[in-house]
Amino acid sequence: MSSRIERLVGVPGNAQDFWATVDCISAWLALPAEELDDSLSEVDRVQTVSAVRAINAAAASDPNAFFAQQKLLARIYDLTIRIPNQPTAEGSVALHEVTRLLETATLAAENKFIPDGLLDQAPTDGKAYLSWLKTMARQHRVFKHSYYNEFIHDHAGVEDLRTYILQESVVDGRFDDLLAMMQVGTSGPAKMEIATNFWDEMGNGNPAEVHTTLFNKIFEVFQITDEELDRVLTANALLSGNLAVMLCRYRHLYAEAVGFLGMTEWLVPDRFKSVVSAWERLGLPDVGIVYHRLHITIDSVHAAGWFHNIVAPAAGTESMRRGIARGTLWRLNSSARYLDERLAGSTQPA
Ligand SMILES: [Fe+2]
Ligand SMILES: [Fe+2]
Repeated sequence: MSSRIERLVGVPGNAQDFWATVDCISAWLALPAEELDDSLSEVDRVQTVSAVRAINAAAASDPNAFFAQQKLLARIYDLTIRIPNQPTAEGSVALHEVTRLLETATLAAENKFIPDGLLDQAPTDGKAYLSWLKTMARQHRVFKHSYYNEFIHDHAGVEDLRTYILQESVVDGRFDDLLAMMQVGTSGPAKMEIATNFWDEMGNGNPAEVHTTLFNKIFEVFQITDEELDRVLTANALLSGNLAVMLCRYRHLYAEAVGFLGMTEWLVPDRFKSVVSAWERLGLPDVGIVYHRLHITIDSVHAAGWFHNIVAPAAGTESMRRGIARGTLWRLNSSARYLDERLAGSTQPA
């Protein structure tokens, strides 16, 4: 190992300084994977693991640690969802160890929000299972959350809408890639449903109507840059994006991805009606609201197709039933905490 590389690679020192750990591991990401692994000793690896474990241990009760945990995971995921123009640490064994620690802790925390025994109640019949899932969603406090129904609908100003869009970018801004990742290994009606949904995302072949292109029009209206995005995303917005990427990238989390994305689509129409009415109330440029207007209708079609062609047929298998329900609950619970955070951070109505 060369001393030049040793100097390039820092290792977390004080495990209780969470942001120093985040900065240190973030600096690894731009290094070629092999160089990074070659330069880390066993002792370095052990030290790094304990620093990441320290963040995970504190995340449940310390908002600062939770923020650090999600920030680091989001930065690592950038390697998975963006094509780089320079070497990255994507294939590093040491980085993979860090990633798995962050991922398993993130999911363990989400599982704590699921009441004991709830997943055992899932009906085995497809139709009954679907209505059980929907009832669970309708009875959840996130359904008709006052952030959308009252704040966005009646009170939000231009700055509030701008902030809202910034935070939403982690899911809406890459929904097509999430679908592309989660469809690997599927077949039959499930694959056809994901393909139909994906083709809609592609504007049915019209580049000007690609959904992420339409979403980015709002970024133009509000003059939002990548640099600003990296700076302002909150812990719970980062969590939403991280959960989406995590569930879609792993085949063993396919069922959870089905539940998570299906519930995301199902909640959209009602929420976006509030966004559209706020946009119109504020007289903002029409070009910026095409995405939301379109999704009021298209996502109710997507959710119906998803439920009918993917969710209901899968209900015959216990692991699918439990996985889809788990993913659904992860979406409902994390979305509720995210909206609480948004509401608390919003300017209050005059
Ligand atoms: Fe879409
Ligand atoms: Fe959709």
